[in-house]
Amino acid sequence: MANFAIVGATGLVGTKMIERLLESNLEVDNIYLMASSRSAGKTIKFGDRDIIVEELTENSFDKDIDYALFSAGGSTSLKFAPIAEKNGVIVIDNSSAWRMDPEIDLIVPECNTPSLDRKIIANPNCSTIQSVLPLKPLNDRFGLNRVSYTTYQAVSGSGVGGIDDLKNGEKGIAPSKYPHPIYNNVLPHIDTFLENGYTKEEMKMIEETKKILNLGDDVLITATCARVPVLNSHSVEINISLKGPATVEEVREILSNSPGIVLIDNPQNNEYPMPLNSTGHDEVFVGRIRKDISQENGFHIWTTADNIRKGAASNAVQIAELLESLK
Ligand code: A2P
Repeated sequence: MANFAIVGATGLVGTKMIERLLESNLEVDNIYLMASSRSAGKTIKFGDRDIIVEELTENSFDKDIDYALFSAGGSTSLKFAPIAEKNGVIVIDNSSAWRMDPEIDLIVPECNTPSLDRKIIANPNCSTIQSVLPLKPLNDRFGLNRVSYTTYQAVSGSGVGGIDDLKNGEKGIAPSKYPHPIYNNVLPHIDTFLENGYTKEEMKMIEETKKILNLGDDVLITATCARVPVLNSHSVEINISLKGPATVEEVREILSNSPGIVLIDNPQNNEYPMPLNSTGHDEVFVGRIRKDISQENGFHIWTTADNIRKGAASNAVQIAELLESLK
């Protein structure tokens, strides 16, 4: 039995956290749903319980709470996660605020385990999560030399605003979330541009991959992230070069036996991972595995995953499941 809080419980990810927590084997004793003053007083169902949404304040964690799952934006996490931590709560934070802090664990349960040196644990970026699942076993077996990511990210990753822009765009209504229409378009732009010409999203993928897989500076990683007019589930093409030789059969075999992965790789029958396959699931779907004919020990791997589930809410709940199982 454990007591949970969900901070940002009225948002897209917070709503999925509630749903995923209900699907979990975790025994939820008390559940506290927190959001801004705008939502305070609303009632949200948690199974057959009616829970009244509380405004998040500095006193919100004075109660007996074991785990607080945060998805209310970076500034909320920066301010309130340390308050929760001071009150003995384990924070699992979906924002990017704490991810690269050297004291904070960045966790994908299939890949690494929290040290709990600090009680704040960071949930990685959505595209990073689905990419490290296949990279981890390949790195363990062959070693990674270089990784090049290209993403095709769904609008649900931008919250309700992204979904609205896609749906309204079809009716000819101008976008409000994105700088250009997303309907019938592709934006090679996610998050803000940095001085080196990359976007923050691209640098998150590069840096977070290194941290989760504990890769040295000798492993070269690059990324290009694009927003596509898909409602849900991100696709990531992962081009890798390994330190040593491997066959397509070996790569397929390893990935088909790795936790959290579903292999769909029968191109002759037009079977490969697509957003429509992965939406509604926690697994990362992997396929189109083939040798990269342009480089030694190179491979192409195509992945899709539900960015709101495995890319956010489910990974956070799985971290709580992992911690409970280690007790
Ligand atoms: P609210 O609905 O009251 O605004 P999304 O990313 O889908 O927009 O959701 C963001 C979530 O974070 C919502 O639950 C939102 O609550 C919550 N939130 C945003 N700002 C704050 C804040 N300052 N304090 C607490 N919750 C916040």
